[in-house]
Amino acid sequence: MNKLDTSLVANALRQAGFETTEKVTDADVVLINTCSVRQHAEQRVLSHLGHLKHIKKSRPELIVGVIGCMAQRLGGELLKHEVVDIVAGPAQIPQIPKLVAEAASHEMKLLAVSEQIRTAGRDSEIDALDGFERDYGSGDNNIKSQAFVRVMRGCNNFCTYCVVPYVRGPEISRAPGAIIEQMKKLAQKGIKQITLLGQSIDSYRYTSGNETYRLAELLRMGAEVDGIRWIRFITSHPRRFDEAILQVMAETPKVCPYLHIPAQSGSDEILKAMNRGYTAGEYIELIEKARAIVPDIAIAGDFIVGFPGETEDNFAETVRLVKKVQYKNIFVFKYSPRPGTKAEEKLADTVPLEVKKQRNTELLEIQNEIAERYNKRFLNKKVEVLVEGPSKKPHLNSAEADNQPQLIGRTATDYIVVFNGSEKLAGQFTKVKITKTSPLTLFGQLT
Ligand code: 5AD
Ligand code: SF4
Repeated sequence: MNKLDTSLVANALRQAGFETTEKVTDADVVLINTCSVRQHAEQRVLSHLGHLKHIKKSRPELIVGVIGCMAQRLGGELLKHEVVDIVAGPAQIPQIPKLVAEAASHEMKLLAVSEQIRTAGRDSEIDALDGFERDYGSGDNNIKSQAFVRVMRGCNNFCTYCVVPYVRGPEISRAPGAIIEQMKKLAQKGIKQITLLGQSIDSYRYTSGNETYRLAELLRMGAEVDGIRWIRFITSHPRRFDEAILQVMAETPKVCPYLHIPAQSGSDEILKAMNRGYTAGEYIELIEKARAIVPDIAIAGDFIVGFPGETEDNFAETVRLVKKVQYKNIFVFKYSPRPGTKAEEKLADTVPLEVKKQRNTELLEIQNEIAERYNKRFLNKKVEVLVEGPSKKPHLNSAEADNQPQLIGRTATDYIVVFNGSEKLAGQFTKVKITKTSPLTLFGQLT
């Protein structure tokens, strides 16, 4: 979601005559798009601001803006920071070009956040966001041939640990017509893969007259857009997951057989305290159903370790769930109390950091073993990938064609594949024969 917001803002500023720079010391304006999900992310922003203080000493005309969730969460408090000129929340990104111009001409600090993010009366904000998306949502993209399209904003799930409902506001689904129009425009620009975005995307629901559109319908409609080859969607919530989505996935080759569906914990007690709305047993049943309907589906998930009160036994249940599900990959996070959430207000952060770290490492090690074993089935098989471009870090590939750069591609199931080939392949589909595997990456040769 933040990557998308960043690209919208960058496109809007480019149209206003700005250019992006590689080095922060070359910039006239520095905008930091922020995440509030964990404290660590916010701490990094503060240290960036500390660094900018030095730059601003020699260049007082430098404009510094903090945008996104941390801006919404801290508002005026953040504006007090000596280097910060602009604070704008996620709903105020359409105003950024204007705010930057004002900050430059009036040399004053500017605050733009939603007063009451969870209540009605934000229609004009939402209209502005939709317009912003329409105008700047089909510009330059980080990865050739790929784009993000937001289908809904906000979240109503109120998981007790999570700050998102308080900084991104209530769930609002965008009109299917606007989404499909955007997809068509992107296809005309050469986009081949679209990732639909929503915090809890399977809750997508848009009613117009007698018709209600859910994610399943939206995926079917999206698959009819000429030029789009692959459609993904993230992230799903297991609570009321709509089976029709799996049917569409099974029947529609363009809909990638990939589900990012966080369990967060394998303990019913902890799931209840997290307000997740399902038991570990129900989650496993859902995954089994998904595999029955879409046999080659890849499942990814998130876990939080060290949630308040998590015992060794509770953690052992999470380990059991990870072993049972056989994920493609998991993301593991150490619980971080977020101000204003129920968990932070009502539950003491009882699990020591050392224990959180240890559980984090243990869970990842278990998942690594699973993936190491599971990925061997790719050996000597041919997979189709959409090439992203040159690999940013050198991998220990056997480099059969080492006169060509190492490229990164992804399969429809989101596996990362490293192989040597011409940079011209970026943005294209190609076939790779897998010659080596590791827990997170497959290696191969162009066929
Ligand atoms: N502490 C740790 N992890 C968190 N997440 C969300 N809130 C917190 C928190 N307070 C994790 C969840 C979510 C992912 C995006 O971040 O696992 O799925
Ligand atoms: Fe946060 Fe839960 Fe909403 Fe995900 S579903 S954004 S974890 S409140």
